[in-house]
Amino acid sequence: MRQAGRYLPEFREFRTKHEFFEICRNPEMACEITLQPIRRFDLDAAIIFSDILVIPQAMGVDVKMVAGKGLEFDNLLKSPEDIDRLNCTFDIKKELGYVFDAITVTRHKLEGKVPLIGFSGAPWTLMSYMIEGGSSSTSSKAKRWLYAHPEASQRLLQALTDIIIEYLVGQVMAGAQALQLFESNAGILGHSLFSKFSLPYIRQISTRVKARLAEQSITAVPMIVFAKDAHFALEELSQSGYEVMGLDWTVKPQNARRLSGATVTLQGNMDPCALYAPKESIGKIVKEMVSKFGTQRYIANLGHGMYPDMDPEAVKAFVDAVHEHSAAMNAS
Ligand code: CP3
Repeated sequence: MRQAGRYLPEFREFRTKHEFFEICRNPEMACEITLQPIRRFDLDAAIIFSDILVIPQAMGVDVKMVAGKGLEFDNLLKSPEDIDRLNCTFDIKKELGYVFDAITVTRHKLEGKVPLIGFSGAPWTLMSYMIEGGSSSTSSKAKRWLYAHPEASQRLLQALTDIIIEYLVGQVMAGAQALQLFESNAGILGHSLFSKFSLPYIRQISTRVKARLAEQSITAVPMIVFAKDAHFALEELSQSGYEVMGLDWTVKPQNARRLSGATVTLQGNMDPCALYAPKESIGKIVKEMVSKFGTQRYIANLGHGMYPDMDPEAVKAFVDAVHEHSAAMNAS
């Protein structure tokens, strides 16, 4: 959940000197930013500094971070014919090798202190960014494709799936010790569209990444699926081949446990806005969360990313409370 970012003064300071995607493309800089939250907080893992939008970029959709404005897109997909001008069969190592290099450099720099997580956006989320160009409250342009052009949509989702699989395998070969798949735009789909245009690809990714790693005699790594607002699909997601299921804050811990069965680890799900509460309240909210999930098969986390106006001290209060309450629960 965007551990690094604009809520950290050291990140903002770095960003006065370097553009966002320049940092993503420079392994030493990406490594430095990845380590910033690790230096400050007692975290149990690092997530490589990058962005889900590097795949659309490599396919030919221009994505820029414009100072004071945010993300700007060019060459967005307007109609299914536009799929043909996308580069769907690019050399992953050539175009995205900078992410692999960042992972290798960071893995060395971490010296085993905490494991390093690699990630990718899931196909539907990437498709919706390639059509909408940014977040939209309705995603109606992207959803229009699913109803008006279902076959072309599936062709695009399959092309993205094939790329994501190679990209994730490459990250493990470069040193990633866990992988997280972000289906951030799952909620807008609802159950029916989700079953057709998201879940099958999410399943393919876990199955084929694992098969590819086994084929090359590379040890498997745990895989995490986070489908934001997909409360309607928790049971199916928990059976989609991932060791961990991430949860947003709208999900009741007991329901997630009941629906996900005995083998899946759950991750989440404090409302990020709870970080605006006074420190003592954060401690209480964390205590309640950990007691509901239990300390086993559980990774305490937020239910989504932090916002730029959040106080790093609140993040520290969150992390410290997780350690305090889980240790107390394990001791009792
Ligand atoms: O946690 C980390 O440090 C890892 C890095 C990370 C980033 N993006 C860095 C980032 C991760 C895991 C992401 C994933 C990502 N990117 C997602 C999936 C997770 C989620 O939030 O649902 C999505 C949807 C994106 C797309 C994206 N990138 C958005 C919506 C934004 C904000 C744009 C804006 O205008 O504010 C970004 C930019 C981004 N990615 C930032 C960071 C630190 C802020 C960039 C900056 O201005 O410096």
